[in-house]
Amino acid sequence: MIFKSDTYKIWVCSFKGTLVGYSIISFPKKIKKARIYSIAVLKKFHGRGIGRRLLMKMVKEAQKGNYEKISLEVAVDNLKAITLYEKLNFLKTGLKKGYYSDGKAAMTMLLHL
Ligand SMILES: CC(C)(COP(=O)(O)OP(=O)(O)OC[C@H]1O[C@@H](n2cnc3c(N)ncnc32)[C@H](O)[C@@H]1OP(=O)(O)O)[C@@H](O)C(=O)NCCC(=O)NCCS
Repeated sequence: MIFKSDTYKIWVCSFKGTLVGYSIISFPKKIKKARIYSIAVLKKFHGRGIGRRLLMKMVKEAQKGNYEKISLEVAVDNLKAITLYEKLNFLKTGLKKGYYSDGKAAMTMLLHL
């Protein structure tokens, strides 16, 4: 973990001094629902299990903090990310039309902890 505030936590993954991935999650004080803001891995490093490890870190931290759920939004056509989330038991819960600046819809997903 490289950053921790009252609400946000950020993890990074580096390889030989290069930052190759990161994840950002918020842990609100008043509700027991964490929210994943962003997770990304450099393209060259895709498919090596880095995304899964970053995601698992966030899930473990949420469990440690007794959070009940983790929510996220992901572009409907981002099959790679959706597959990763589903493998870690996130469920598809709905659609948000026009969520992204290019007009694309977002899929909402939820993990019950
Ligand atoms: C989504 C992302 C973070 C995954 O990172 P990654 O390090 O490549 O993922 P992993 O190597 O840990 O793969 C985890 C799972 O993702 C899925 N996955 C990986 N590559 C895939 C591909 N080419 N096609 C479909 N699914 C794929 C697989 O289910 C894989 O599980 P497995 O290892 O059991 O096969 C990465 O693709 C990324 O940075 N994408 C751009 C940013 C982004 O879309 N972020 C999500 C925004 S919500």
